[in-house]
Amino acid sequence: MRSARGPFFVFGVRGKNSVPYTLMSTKDGIFPDGFLWGAATSAHQVEGGQRNDWSEWEASPSRLADLEKRGLLRKFGKDNFISGDACDHFRRYADDFQLAKDLGHNATRFSLEWSRIEPTEGAFDESMIRHYHDVARTIRSLGMEPFVTLWHWTNPLWFRDRGGWLNSRAPEWFARYVERIIAALGDGVRFWITLNEPEIVVASHLVGRFPPQQRNLFSYLRVIRNLINAHRRAYHVIKKRNPLAQIGIAHNVIDFEAAGINPLNHALKRVADWWANDYFFDRIRNEQDFLGCNYYFHNRIHWGFNKNENRVRSDMGWELRPDGLEGVLLRLKKFRRPVYITENGIADAEDRLRPQVLIESLSAVHRALMQGTDVRGYLHWSLLDNFEWDSGFWPRFGLLEVDRTTLKRTPRRSAYLFRDLILENGISHGMPNAYKNPI
Ligand code: FCB
Repeated sequence: MRSARGPFFVFGVRGKNSVPYTLMSTKDGIFPDGFLWGAATSAHQVEGGQRNDWSEWEASPSRLADLEKRGLLRKFGKDNFISGDACDHFRRYADDFQLAKDLGHNATRFSLEWSRIEPTEGAFDESMIRHYHDVARTIRSLGMEPFVTLWHWTNPLWFRDRGGWLNSRAPEWFARYVERIIAALGDGVRFWITLNEPEIVVASHLVGRFPPQQRNLFSYLRVIRNLINAHRRAYHVIKKRNPLAQIGIAHNVIDFEAAGINPLNHALKRVADWWANDYFFDRIRNEQDFLGCNYYFHNRIHWGFNKNENRVRSDMGWELRPDGLEGVLLRLKKFRRPVYITENGIADAEDRLRPQVLIESLSAVHRALMQGTDVRGYLHWSLLDNFEWDSGFWPRFGLLEVDRTTLKRTPRRSAYLFRDLILENGISHGMPNAYKNPI
């Protein structure tokens, strides 16, 4: 195994929109041939015009009353909490992906909105299937590799009304939807993400924060079981149609740390790693071609509580520990699958911290690579400022800033930095020639 940290090479970066930076890396600072670089979005957060369980929940009297009670309606305004037109990406997707291309990306992750495709049970809207077919084709024609997410948290209303993921038939319904999709898009898409962060149902079924706001341990466990089955069924549906398809989930993987030498903290860290990080990957061990890793969180466990040092935080108060990505990736080695970072990013409206976080995150990825984790791509969250679920529009995660009044997109300096990092650190697809400044 090569040393993780040396010898160092320092890459400088040119370009008038670049920020000064150095990416310290090893002699093999170049990322592997074919490494995929890009950004990720999800339908509900960017498309606009949704009619699903989330959009109904956002505008429901009980939700608005709760926001009012917590003083949030006064603070941010009602529009902040209603996804509404979002970024109008449903209509502007071609321009958005062109911008991504101009910013050096060679991959893009986006999600399909199940509620558009199957608005009533068993009745598929062919025009919507065509729409997503066109989206995937547009991405490919720009020379980018599409990563298609089949479920990114939102559900059709009929599905919700039948109990949603609690219903034991949910995996069957999901597989039926996937079957239709794969028949239409299957040949043009190699990378499939069945489920985004399935463990998030802890927020919707155990702690009651996301819709349907339940608090029930048994429901929670049942939903997890149904999601595992849904993934497995979808996996086989896709493989049957296209044996070469690469299929996985995007899992929120956390960097757990035990505070001090207290054995209890170390035991709790092991439990946390097992349940929060490994469980889902383990259960689908035989039905996954790659591991999708979303990385945002470091948790320092102290007597069962999070005792983070919180030296640097994002606008949302999330502690920033980009170096934690290295350990997270090293732990994934044991699953013996290629790894794609399917999300990683920060809420930073002023783009003050993002440049450094981006550099440090990619350095961490590179160190993990040098120590043998087979990382094959990095997709930043997010391409666009978007609707951050129950927090609404105020958190700004985009490489592209979106003006909330005009919806105009403007690349942040991080977008140029990312472009320069991509160009300097190894795209061997003729990308440098294709490169042009979008402004
Ligand atoms: C992830 C979600 C994504 C976005 C980021 C900030 O957990 O998958 O949709 O909200 O967090």
